[in-house]
Amino acid sequence: MTADDLKPLIRAIPDFPKPGILFRDVTTLIGHGAGFAAATRLLADRARAVGADVIAGIEARGFIFGAAVAARLELPFVPVRKPGKLPVPVLAIDYALEYGTDTLEVDPDAIAEGQKVVVIDDLIATGGTALAAVELLRRAGGVVTEALFVIDLPDLGGADRLRAAGLTVEALMDFE
Ligand code: PRP
Ligand code: ADE
Repeated sequence: MTADDLKPLIRAIPDFPKPGILFRDVTTLIGHGAGFAAATRLLADRARAVGADVIAGIEARGFIFGAAVAARLELPFVPVRKPGKLPVPVLAIDYALEYGTDTLEVDPDAIAEGQKVVVIDDLIATGGTALAAVELLRRAGGVVTEALFVIDLPDLGGADRLRAAGLTVEALMDFE
């Protein structure tokens, strides 16, 4: 399967979680065995090509794809977590969402200084989540230059914000 074959596997839910949001739901993609395998393979091909040492995934949906990519490449997986979940003193950062605010946390010892970290999430909208994760992973010692997504919502400008911050951004599909 190619990235084009994966797009019909994403379900669109109007007005979730708030009125006016068209929610792009990846549960129908991960519920399709061949589709999930193809998405993982395509993301892993890119992470391998850029020489990732570590894969970081953003809670929660970024864990699904990030962990699958890390296992496929036999690389370490670092969870970038929502607050209060990690059992150690954390590095933390607040950020704005398309629909609210939140905090991300990471174990400061999860990455060795200078390791190349590729960030993976299911979707980029405003880019606030991914930018916060990149900043956090850099504070933890990672070299972060690449962010990979299943879905880009280009109208919300997140990928452009990441590119303006010097990151390379790739997504398997766009929804205008
Ligand atoms: C969603 C999505 C991204 C983020 C994208 O996560 O999985 O992480 O929003 O939005 P942004 O580019 O505007 O920051 P959400 O916070 O809904 O959490 P979840 O994965 O736990 O459902
Ligand atoms: N996260 C932020 N915006 C989203 C959207 N429109 N669909 C799914 N996840 C999202």
